[in-house]
Amino acid sequence: MQFSLKDIYKDYFLIGAAVNPESVVSHRELILKHFNSITCENEMKFGIIHPHENEYKFDDADLIYRFAMDNGIAVRGHNFVWHYEVPDWLFDGADRDIALARLDAHIKILSERYPEIYCWDCINEGIDDHEAYLRKTLWLDTVGEDYFERVFETAAKYLSGKTLFYNDYNEFDPVKRDKYINKIKSMLADGIPVSGVGLQCHLGLNHAVNFDEIKRGIELYAGLGLKLHITELDVSLYPYDDREMHTQPTFEEYKRQTGVYKDIFKIFREYSREIEAVTFWGASDAVTWLNYFPVSGRKNGGLLFDEEQRCKECFYAICDF
Ligand code: GLA
Repeated sequence: MQFSLKDIYKDYFLIGAAVNPESVVSHRELILKHFNSITCENEMKFGIIHPHENEYKFDDADLIYRFAMDNGIAVRGHNFVWHYEVPDWLFDGADRDIALARLDAHIKILSERYPEIYCWDCINEGIDDHEAYLRKTLWLDTVGEDYFERVFETAAKYLSGKTLFYNDYNEFDPVKRDKYINKIKSMLADGIPVSGVGLQCHLGLNHAVNFDEIKRGIELYAGLGLKLHITELDVSLYPYDDREMHTQPTFEEYKRQTGVYKDIFKIFREYSREIEAVTFWGASDAVTWLNYFPVSGRKNGGLLFDEEQRCKECFYAICDF
């Protein structure tokens, strides 16, 4: 394995991986060789790090943060506000002011404990996938239509100088994309301190991977003038709505995956002035959410390294340009 991804891309963008307390041990050498940014897969999510009002569980996040700091790796913070991993206590008896005060205390503590985190996903997946503008969540119900604005203002109080992201998926679907872009534009017009645009980029073969839409999307997001991050990249061999238990991916499927990786990185490189980091959602096919979602135990193989941490064809395809 002679290539190092982070070195190959050093003039383009940071190369990140989502990690967990197990993978920073089992994949230690691989991570050190190829990645210069990491994201906690789950360990900094609200309900996990802050399960009760007066109880924080820092151990796993601390371990990952320390691993990064000891090895000169940047850390993306993920995330403050999401519709999942919401602990019961957070909205218990809460009105708008109480919910915002609880969020304020949470962000303050995390920002003090992890001062070197270079950016945070302040809101994750708040735009609706269907007709509505904002997704219906407890945040929307309790705080109100302006909750995006209030979250970014709260984060900015404690995270001065850090990039504050909005992050979402299905971001290249033209309808959702336009809602996303309008929301950012309206916040910027109101002087709200949003400063980063997170594009999750969970792709799957068989879904038409529409490069024209991806390219157009990146061009439009880049036009917002904020930092762009690809935050959760993977290219599943099977689409989300295919629920078959595939156990033996074919050569042909891997070949298509390689083609997608090659093409998409070409687009990323074209926009490297705007794109600051490209993060894969996992370190290898051994440690990825695709092993249990949407079908538990299926081999989706969405990443660059196989289950034995060997480089796949798609790895070489993005190194060769
Ligand atoms: C979403 C979240 C991530 C992670 C993935 C799947 O995209 O943003 O934190 O939970 O789903 O694992």
